[in-house]
Amino acid sequence: MRIVSGMRPTGKLHLGHYFGVIKNWIKLQQEHETFFFIADWHALTTSYKNTKDLQNHIRDVMIDWIALGLDPENGTLFIQSKVKEHAELHLIFSMITPKSWLEWNPTYKDIKYNLLKLNEVELQFRGGLRDTVRQFINMIPYRVEDFERFEEHLLEDLSSTFISALFEGEIEPELLKKLNVSKRDFYETDTYGFLGYPVLQAADILIYKGQGVPVGEDQLPHIELTREIARRFNYLYGEVFPEPEALLTETPKILGIDGRKMSKSYNNAIFFADTKEEVETKVMKMFTDPQKLRKNDPGRPNICPVFSYHKLFNSNPEGIQQIENDCRSGKLGCVDCKKTMLSFLEDFLEPVRDKRNEIMKNIKSVESIFIEGSISARNVALETMEEVRKAVNLK
Ligand code: TRP
Repeated sequence: MRIVSGMRPTGKLHLGHYFGVIKNWIKLQQEHETFFFIADWHALTTSYKNTKDLQNHIRDVMIDWIALGLDPENGTLFIQSKVKEHAELHLIFSMITPKSWLEWNPTYKDIKYNLLKLNEVELQFRGGLRDTVRQFINMIPYRVEDFERFEEHLLEDLSSTFISALFEGEIEPELLKKLNVSKRDFYETDTYGFLGYPVLQAADILIYKGQGVPVGEDQLPHIELTREIARRFNYLYGEVFPEPEALLTETPKILGIDGRKMSKSYNNAIFFADTKEEVETKVMKMFTDPQKLRKNDPGRPNICPVFSYHKLFNSNPEGIQQIENDCRSGKLGCVDCKKTMLSFLEDFLEPVRDKRNEIMKNIKSVESIFIEGSISARNVALETMEEVRKAVNLK
């Protein structure tokens, strides 16, 4: 089976990426023909305003992929934008894709919803500020002409500053929580390109005639759309594309150090680029059972993030059982429990860290893996495009 999948370059990878995606990709590499790419064009759909770190992010992903064990000998690793034909196929697909298919796309609807939410937050922000602004104006010792308008202007200025700070991700996490929003909610994504996000994704997959697409559940609507686009193309112009299927990966959801889902935007992630000391600090800060206040209080391992790491990183089932028992009975305190866990975690992280450092000494060689990969991916893409152009009578 031919497998295709991509990852947007959002920066350094963390444990969540490994257990959610990369581990499975490595396995697939051994069993199938695979095409894995860094979806830099897709990154632009949400982060077009801030591209200054794009190349750094791509580089970080390249380093982490190789350090974690993706193997250019076993499959094709490349960069989306280095194969311009994705864009050509995206264009052709955009001609045959009804707009309604995209507008009904749940991801798109989510973002639309977020735009509404943005208005709500702005109103909330203004409401909260109004009194303060009024007090401030009252302090001005002379009479401000057209008082009402001045107040409005000031509020408008402040809230637009606030909103751009939201967009730039400069608002304190605490405040975001209070407002019940996350940074992700506030990308300015009411664009043509964002609407077409899944069309580009369909091109990514179909240009390699991908049959299997390993993705998370959130991506299922995109794969369904890919199938619909393939069907429509085949119906209009003759059979060119297979209908790919999603390969849902069953992955343990890895928790962040605060017990929520691990995510860069929650600031709770353990990165492969973290130093040993950074990892230690994070582990020692990890949340545990909030009812276990003192060392010898009995704990509940089933709700403790630290215990979930024991299960992931300790390969000895009896050792895990021991930890569980000693936590429940109150024999084991959280500090000691964390220290034990840290050593298992480090057994896993250290070799990756060493490999990362090794790679970074010779960054050119990683770059050339991806350049070579892009050339071989392109050869396959060019063949498909020949067929496509012919089918559409473009030549
Ligand atoms: N949309 C995917 C994500 O955010 C990334 C992606 C882009 C992708 N193109 C793809 C995944 C093609 C699978 C196949 O995770």
